[in-house]
Amino acid sequence: MKAIVYEKYGSPDVLELREVKKPIPKENEVLIKVHAASVNAYDWHFLTADIFLIRLMGGGLLKPKNTRLGADIAGRVEAVGRNVKQFQPGDEVFGDMAGHGNGSFAEYVSASESAFALKPANLSFEEAAAVPMAAVTALQGLRDEGQIHPGQKVLINGASGGVGTFAVQIAKLFGAEVTAVCSPRNLDQARSIGADQVIDYTREDFTQNGQQYDLILAANGYHSLSDYKRALTPQGIYVMAGGSMAQIFQAMLLGSWMSKTGGKKMGGVSTKIDQKDLVILKELLEAGKVVPVIDRRYLLSEAAEALRYLGEVHARGKVIITVV
Ligand SMILES: NC(=O)c1ccc[n+]([C@@H]2O[C@H](COP(=O)([O-])OP(=O)(O)OC[C@H]3O[C@@H](n4cnc5c(N)ncnc54)[C@H](OP(=O)(O)O)[C@@H]3O)[C@@H](O)[C@H]2O)c1
Repeated sequence: MKAIVYEKYGSPDVLELREVKKPIPKENEVLIKVHAASVNAYDWHFLTADIFLIRLMGGGLLKPKNTRLGADIAGRVEAVGRNVKQFQPGDEVFGDMAGHGNGSFAEYVSASESAFALKPANLSFEEAAAVPMAAVTALQGLRDEGQIHPGQKVLINGASGGVGTFAVQIAKLFGAEVTAVCSPRNLDQARSIGADQVIDYTREDFTQNGQQYDLILAANGYHSLSDYKRALTPQGIYVMAGGSMAQIFQAMLLGSWMSKTGGKKMGGVSTKIDQKDLVILKELLEAGKVVPVIDRRYLLSEAAEALRYLGEVHARGKVIITVV
């Protein structure tokens, strides 16, 4: 089968489309014919090792230990191991290969059945592949870390990317009043997916305008933790999903320390894909309550282009890799 392979950390130029062995499912695994994958900053980090911790935490110190890339996937089950209970050949599924060896930028994957759920029936494979990592991050960031409640004022920074477009929609479903922060070209998109207010970050700094929010989900951009803290109501919660390296390290190193005084909580979300959340999202998608926003589509042979585009950090929604 064909797969995207890389043997050294670097720019998307190091990616190659190669013939590799088609996987054989183990007892608890499903073999899936991949129809579509989507690209995440997660893949960018594994490709470039721009976060040094990736090298220290099992990614491989000098070169990638795992030469395969890609987490989000949608496809059709081709075969199942004998202990698989939930799926059978022919089922259409979507899921996330993070924690299951990655490798969705390929014609086939084989992984534990726990990585997948049945695909929302009303979505194409490409639409379904857009969902898992970004939407679960938005859901877990708002619901679990952010403890979102109806009527709260919620701000999403980085509202026009993969995580942000799901976060705006999910926060609205929880009954929040949502402010979306993005660049001017994405203001209409943010309104169209439900944002009540929009802030153009090139013209206005939401941390300096005197407004306060019960919950801030930071998907992208950079502000110091003290700026974010100022923009929170007295019991407000800041949840860092991503952004610049400085953002990530500040939240990791200083977040719990800064939460010790006063009622404000400064933390982050570390997404754990689980089937229950995939099923929740499947139901929301089937009900039309959440809709994936897709920016560009690339072929498997163009995976390097897809990653190059994602690496510019201005994708509008999700970037898809169509495999068949
Ligand atoms: N913690 C976790 O477990 C976890 C899981 C998934 C993702 N993440 C992280 O979450 C982050 C976001 O992921 P993603 O999939 O949403 O990425 P993405 O799709 O690449 O984000 C692109 C978006 O970021 C916006 N952006 C760029 N600079 C900005 C700025 N200064 N202020 C506000 N928005 C800005 C862009 O909007 P404009 O073009 O309008 O500027 C663009 O729409 C990444 O850092 C990723 O690593 C973390």
